[in-house]
Amino acid sequence: MALAGRLVDIHTHVYLPRYCSLLRSRNTVPRILTSSHDGKPDDRLLILDHEPSGGRPVGPQYWDRDEKIKFMDRHGIDLSVVSSANPWLDFLPASEAKTLASQLNEDLEQYCSESPQLSPSLKRLYGFGLLPLVPEISIAALLETVEQIYKLSYLKGIIMGTRGIGKGLDDEALDPVWAALEKTGLVVFLHPHYGVDEKAWGDKDNGHVLPLALGFPFETTIATTRLILAGVLDRFPSLRILLAHSGGALPQLSSRLASCIDHDPVVASRLSHDARWYLGKLYFDAVAYGPEELGFVSDVIARSARFGSGSPATLDKTVDRTLGSKRMLFGTDHPFFPPLQSTEKWKSVVENLQAIDAVSGWGQAEKEGVRGDNALSLFNLV
Ligand code: URA
Ligand code: ZN
Repeated sequence: MALAGRLVDIHTHVYLPRYCSLLRSRNTVPRILTSSHDGKPDDRLLILDHEPSGGRPVGPQYWDRDEKIKFMDRHGIDLSVVSSANPWLDFLPASEAKTLASQLNEDLEQYCSESPQLSPSLKRLYGFGLLPLVPEISIAALLETVEQIYKLSYLKGIIMGTRGIGKGLDDEALDPVWAALEKTGLVVFLHPHYGVDEKAWGDKDNGHVLPLALGFPFETTIATTRLILAGVLDRFPSLRILLAHSGGALPQLSSRLASCIDHDPVVASRLSHDARWYLGKLYFDAVAYGPEELGFVSDVIARSARFGSGSPATLDKTVDRTLGSKRMLFGTDHPFFPPLQSTEKWKSVVENLQAIDAVSGWGQAEKEGVRGDNALSLFNLV
């Protein structure tokens, strides 16, 4: 336990050089648009369908391992579990997705294996691999890739979007994949990309604000709810699923969800538990930017235990929020949300750390857990 007190970032992305080359070669979204301004490179990343303001400025922060380490050093981050960023392989035909997934998994293994040591037995970088989750892929190809990732010693999980192989995460065709992920113990990091139609209920352009602040978390909320409603967590109870952005709106809506299920006997008959119970089976990143939200999520996780026994739950007791904190893990979302002016530390990171520190009812042990100890246990790094 010499590693206690470490800061571990489990939500941090990379566009590996091989993937960037592909994005540079494309002339439709997703793409990297290469251009220059006053003689300096001014490349832009266009990954959303109607990317506002000509795309996001993109540079070495997005692909260079040294930049990742510098960012970690600047923010006191000891170890990071790095994932490829959206939209992964979603836009590729099946055979191309399969080949590129294998290559990018090997690339990420090398990226991590050549990172500095944190301790005699640990590197500073570990990773989430990629599965070729696209329509028309064979399940055999997905299982082969799970096996590949499992054998790569620095890859500790997979990152997954919300579409599955085109029919969502409640597609029964995915059952063998869930089974393999459960058996291998790889952590599934569930992350959004598509959001909600940017014209939903209004016409004004609000840049990235609506898609990133609301669209992304709602997408995660819906995808996770579908997974729960399809009984995935009943059939694969040892699956370890980590939700991006603290599970989006799912914690806030979980009692409403339970009530709607109660009033729909067909859906209710598919589930072995009250909907709120399933939240205690999930893991949540702590990328929520506010102490009240983090405290609330930990309450909802802790509350899930009330719904486990089969007897009617009592709703009149307060929960022990320290218990819920054990399933929450610090993240930064680097290289997204960079500071607009050059500053020593990124506001997006500082805010998430301050939020963890300010959660009322969390003591030192809970805060250290969320900052890093929970991640070290989840990824079997202790
Ligand atoms: N924007 C993205 O496109 N992806 C993230 O993960 C965060 C912000
Ligand atoms: Zn992210």
